[in-house]
Amino acid sequence: MPTLGVLTTSDLGSRGIRVDSSGTLIMDVFSSKGFVVEKYEVVPDERHVIEEVLRTWVDTENLDLIVTTGGTGLTKRDVTPEATLAIIDREVPGIAEAMRIRTMDITPLSVLSRSVAGVREDTLIINMPGSPKAVQECLDVLMPVIPHALGLLKDPPISHDS
Ligand code: MTE
Repeated sequence: MPTLGVLTTSDLGSRGIRVDSSGTLIMDVFSSKGFVVEKYEVVPDERHVIEEVLRTWVDTENLDLIVTTGGTGLTKRDVTPEATLAIIDREVPGIAEAMRIRTMDITPLSVLSRSVAGVREDTLIINMPGSPKAVQECLDVLMPVIPHALGLLKDPPISHDS
């Protein structure tokens, strides 16, 4: 069973002022696909806090997948992409590109998310926007891809010669 961490970045959520329906949605969808939710946290939009949680969840918890929600927009408090870029080893640009482009027909505002995705050690980390609507749209795009991506991170290298 693949393991999952869900990190919601929200100043209001972390103070208990906003209910985190986006984080709950992510956990529900992945649980229904057989993922085990091992970590869940709501943190303020503080870059060093986000970096610290992501590092710990990879280096200590060895999660297979981490999905963040929120903090990907254009305001000064939106720092989730910067925190993610600071801790990943390699970016996987196609994941974020797909979320933006494939949901543009639903809303052109999809391009306002600066979300990134990448790999630290054997963990795939994906930023998603903050609203439950956006999360559902992005999950619809990515769910078919994620099992293969996680498989590539787990399996020994295979030869493509033949
Ligand atoms: N992507 C999709 N698919 N659907 C949406 O409704 N909302 C956009 C964008 N991405 C949206 C979306 C909006 S309005 C913003 S401001 C950005 O995500 C950033 O959102 P965040 O700051 O909550 O991460």
